[in-house]
Amino acid sequence: MSKKKIGILTGGGDCPGLNAVIRGVTKCAINEHGMEVIGFHDGFLGLIEKRFSLLSFESVSGILTQGGTILGSDNKANPFEFTVTECNEPVKVDVSEQCMELYEDLGLDALICVGGDGTMTIAGLLAEKGAKIVGLPKTIDKDIEGTDITFGFDSARAIATEALDRVHTTAQSHHRVLLVEIMGRNAGWLTLESGIAGGADVILIPEIPYDIKEITSMIRKRSHFGRRFSIIAVAEGALPAGGKQTIKRIVEDSPDPVRLGGVSHVIADQLEKETGIECRVAILGHVQRGGSPSPSDRLLGTQLAVKAMDLVATGQFNHMAALNGTQMVAVPLKDVAGRQRLVPLDSPLIRTALSVGTSFGAKLNA
Ligand code: F6P
Repeated sequence: MSKKKIGILTGGGDCPGLNAVIRGVTKCAINEHGMEVIGFHDGFLGLIEKRFSLLSFESVSGILTQGGTILGSDNKANPFEFTVTECNEPVKVDVSEQCMELYEDLGLDALICVGGDGTMTIAGLLAEKGAKIVGLPKTIDKDIEGTDITFGFDSARAIATEALDRVHTTAQSHHRVLLVEIMGRNAGWLTLESGIAGGADVILIPEIPYDIKEITSMIRKRSHFGRRFSIIAVAEGALPAGGKQTIKRIVEDSPDPVRLGGVSHVIADQLEKETGIECRVAILGHVQRGGSPSPSDRLLGTQLAVKAMDLVATGQFNHMAALNGTQMVAVPLKDVAGRQRLVPLDSPLIRTALSVGTSFGAKLNA
């Protein structure tokens, strides 16, 4: 009898822990299930362009501690709306049938799709076409439905927290307001958690639109009590009440074309005018997605990889492996696709921050 064969791809923006997952899936598939593993290069682009390679124990050895993904990633290629050039014009075509043909030709028994909400949505559509899919939740944003945590988040939270720690001393020396802009798209998890861990005086997240007067009042209050500096953790998706998010760029051929960024400069200008206190901005950007994964992300990535292989082995397809409390669970892809998990306003984390006197730039009660 021929060996069973699975494929794996990493889609969307990268994050620390992807290599831990690739290693975990490959080692578990070979070691425990005697399966072959094919890695597609650059996410769904590798499936579209037929670029892949066989993964072995040797090829995944030593990658646990490495950031990024040895398979490469892509956050544009969508087999259902793939951009090609026709008569010098970009047009979107559906190449999903071609992907399904490759899936069949390779004799895949399952395809493991590692990614965020965009990847899960595409994976769900491929599942409808007959592919046997298992999803794995990755993103520094922690905004995937159906799981308490995503790998990549813990590493990014540590980086953002360290940045907040570091700006404290310089803000204090120069009696300035330091704004640290943190990624997370439309979700405030990364800013909220690193903001609390890094002792930010003000935390601005997309789920709680800010009022600039509330922020100035906090800064003035601190000055009044002799605290002549303030630290503000700003989510890239933060927005003023009644206003809009700050868009940095539009990536036309991306399934989610909006890239946020720069709101902290807008806030800094307003604060300087209102308070007369010098402000400085640090936008962390892709630093948050780089470097070696934290021990938690290595552990979570490996646990999720083994859970994904359990789902493959037991034939529980079209599900995403997820963490619910301390339990590894399987969540139907249809409950994940096209959704975003935002910070609920009754989150205990918001209450925690309010209780220690942190402002959200809005009138909220602990
Ligand atoms: O989803 C992960 C993420 O890093 C977001 O936090 C950020 O808004 C976005 O990706 C940046 O995308 P890109 O890598 O295309 O600039």
